[in-house]
Amino acid sequence: MRTRPLKVALLGCGVVGSEVARIMTTHADDLAARIGAPVELAGVAVRRPSRVREGIPAELITTDATALVKRGDIDVVVEVIGGIEPARTLITTAFEYGASVVSANKALLAQDGAALHAVAEDHDADLYYEAAVAGAIPLIRPLRESLAGDKVNRVLGIVNGTTNFILDAMDSTGAGYQEALDEATALGYAEADPTADVEGFDAAAKTAILAGIAFHTRVRLDDVYREGMTEVTAADFASAKQMGCTIKLLAICERAADGASVTARVHPAMIPLSHPLASVRGAYNAVFVESDAAGQLMFYGPGAGGSPTASAVLGDLVAVCRNRLNGATGPGESAYAALPVSGMGDVVTRYHISLDVADKPGVLAQVATVFAEHGVSIDTVRQQGKDGEASLVVVTHRASDASLSGTVEALRSLDTVRGVASIMRVEGE
Ligand SMILES: NC(=O)c1ccc[n+]([C@@H]2O[C@H](COP(=O)([O-])OP(=O)(O)OC[C@H]3O[C@@H](n4cnc5c(N)ncnc54)[C@H](OP(=O)(O)O)[C@@H]3O)[C@@H](O)[C@H]2O)c1
Repeated sequence: MRTRPLKVALLGCGVVGSEVARIMTTHADDLAARIGAPVELAGVAVRRPSRVREGIPAELITTDATALVKRGDIDVVVEVIGGIEPARTLITTAFEYGASVVSANKALLAQDGAALHAVAEDHDADLYYEAAVAGAIPLIRPLRESLAGDKVNRVLGIVNGTTNFILDAMDSTGAGYQEALDEATALGYAEADPTADVEGFDAAAKTAILAGIAFHTRVRLDDVYREGMTEVTAADFASAKQMGCTIKLLAICERAADGASVTARVHPAMIPLSHPLASVRGAYNAVFVESDAAGQLMFYGPGAGGSPTASAVLGDLVAVCRNRLNGATGPGESAYAALPVSGMGDVVTRYHISLDVADKPGVLAQVATVFAEHGVSIDTVRQQGKDGEASLVVVTHRASDASLSGTVEALRSLDTVRGVASIMRVEGE
């Protein structure tokens, strides 16, 4: 074993960074044996230096992250600050000064992953970010390495623990969205400002990263269709139950049937209770991967939290350190397939539509005609009427999102349709 240690600069020492530092210290001997050289924490950059940081020698703490990455003797920079700046400039500088980088920063990688990969490649350095998608769950390395000989057709996952906690609470207690969100906030599963989670921004960033790796195609954040889950109601859950389904906020990356394009989207959807993703409870994450040769694979585990996320960061750190000792680099960005990324209109799936209609003869036939005119075939219809008003629940066969949008627009213009109460996609069948 080499005795000269590999030097690690830790940028950020919050929820994730403090756990990375702890594991680096407590597992130092095992890490050295697995890497083939000791790893040494050379410096820790933070914003508030006076905060007590248990187990971290005070002389390692600095507020000058730039000076730390520019030291010239750093082998690996671990970026767990988060956000776009200064993280982006610090990572770029780290490459320029000869270091490889491990990051957990989904927002930055979804936005600027291609550019950062290019800088890494220019400097013969590694950029690893297993922790950026679904916390502790090994997903990026399986897609990038284990499935490198296969062809991935679909990735379907629950990649945000906060929203899964809220939807699971709504499902199991019958609570409304606000009540379930309040509970999630009180228990520490939702942030004071939950927008990034409940509006699907966090999941969309992870979806862009996953789709890019799965399809060897550059998928930008703007390419990902995004719909949050704030409009999901207790009535939607009641409808889902009647269909033998539950509701999840899903990240879906799909190859088109002809294989010539891909789509990436995040939205709430009904999935059958028999689907493995339906039983993912609380704040857990799970990702279902379908490929040509392997068939169906499911990855499951804690998608966030200091220690689980640090596990993924440490796994990357070991891999990057091994590469460095071998004078090599691991896989970089693979975007050779360069498939076009289609918009939501081209997505083909099933739909559950709930309509408020006048309770009089002929309405059902009128509604069915509108569906037929737009080429959307109906699977089942359920009607409930009271006091001259009725609700009509229509479940369709597979149709394009564009055809469904046209259908809904036409339905809204019918005198006998009082309103479209909800539209939900049905996935996982
Ligand atoms: N938390 C999770 O469960 C989780 C899961 C997956 C991925 N991630 C990702 O991991 C990253 C870190 O998340 P976190 O939850 O650990 O965040 P956090 O608890 O807010 O920690 C951020 C750390 O960065 C430091 N920092 C902020 N601005 C800085 C600057 N300009 N220069 C130097 N240091 C600075 C902070 O210093 P102070 O300590 O002085 O404030 C703090 O130590 C993010 O990209 C996040 O998306 C987190």
